[in-house]
Amino acid sequence: MKAAVLVEANEPLRIEEVELDPPKAYEVRVNIAAAGVCRSDLHFMRGEAVIAKPAVLGHEGSAIVQEVGEGVTRVAPGDHVILSFVPFCGRCPSCISGRANLCDTHLATGPSMFDGTRRLHWNGKDLAHMGKVACFAEQAVVPEAGCMKIDADFPLPVAALIGCSVTTGVGSVLFSAQVEPGSTVAVIGCGGVGLNVVQGARLAGAKRIIAVDINDAALEFATRFGATDTLNPNDGDALKAIRDMTGGGVDYAFEAFGSSETATMTFDAARKGGTAVIVGLAPMGDYASIDPVALVRYEKTLKGSYYGSSRPAIDFYRMVDFYESGKIDVDGLITRSYSLDQINEAYEELDRGVVGRGVITF
Ligand code: APR
Ligand code: ZN
Repeated sequence: MKAAVLVEANEPLRIEEVELDPPKAYEVRVNIAAAGVCRSDLHFMRGEAVIAKPAVLGHEGSAIVQEVGEGVTRVAPGDHVILSFVPFCGRCPSCISGRANLCDTHLATGPSMFDGTRRLHWNGKDLAHMGKVACFAEQAVVPEAGCMKIDADFPLPVAALIGCSVTTGVGSVLFSAQVEPGSTVAVIGCGGVGLNVVQGARLAGAKRIIAVDINDAALEFATRFGATDTLNPNDGDALKAIRDMTGGGVDYAFEAFGSSETATMTFDAARKGGTAVIVGLAPMGDYASIDPVALVRYEKTLKGSYYGSSRPAIDFYRMVDFYESGKIDVDGLITRSYSLDQINEAYEELDRGVVGRGVITF
């Protein structure tokens, strides 16, 4: 089958014929239906985040089950599923304490399956499976615990986005920060993830949602998802503008780009008693400076949010419900679609700042 292979950082992905083993126990082979073009993959392509190489990237996906391994009970051939890039083992302290997004077994086995081995091979080498998903390929073998069954008539590109950007963004507001109605919110970085933070804040009843981005087109797009104000840091001091607009800072500030500079700005944008939530992944090894006096003297809270602090096996279905009941707009986020062969072009466009989310369809 065809897959996009990352051989070395800072090289284009290569479309190659690769081998995929049959599923082992508690694993499932799926045909990928749609895969989102997310910045997290770009971090690996650029070496800002590290994965074993060669690797198949892609972690925001939906699929149709083809074959199940021994012992699989969650899904059957023909089922449509949303893929989770943090499948749960169900046994580790994180899973048992209700924080399945931090599953210890998944973290320990990384881009291999739960038994520590790989199903993907190319040129005599094993390929890493990003997030145990690796959906930049025609097919994948994934743990059954990473497959959340949905109705067969649910749109598969929307399902793919629920697998990362929707749950990450909306979840950061509802589950990580628990924003109350009437709050003031700032969102720094309004791409695929940040737009979902914006619409999560609208869903939570925030009265003011300030979108911050260096791209004017992204700002204008953000107003469609609930941004009440927009700020471009290239036009002036955005931090001062946020403080002026809100009488000293917002109740909740979210970082959805991924850099130490924007992390610092996010912390600074939170008001006295306010909360700063870091959602984006900065390059590995970077440190952000935080004003420790403001942290203490103003009793600010600084939080990280991974996968929207969600429990994917439960919370994907909340996102499905928000979409079906019109509380969030996912169709409007999808602005372009590509074939797998166009994947490098898709990432050039993401980096150039085309608004919304791109999706690879199969
Ligand atoms: N200040 C504000 N916004 C910025 C800045 C900046 N200094 N630099 C870039 N941006 C904006 C971009 O213009 C873009 O609109 O941040 C947005 C990032 O959006 P995408 O490239 O679509 O990235 P996305 O897929 O949303 O991921 C954002 O979340 O999950 C993580 O790894 C992911 O770190 C990444 C982050
Ligand atoms: Zn992602």
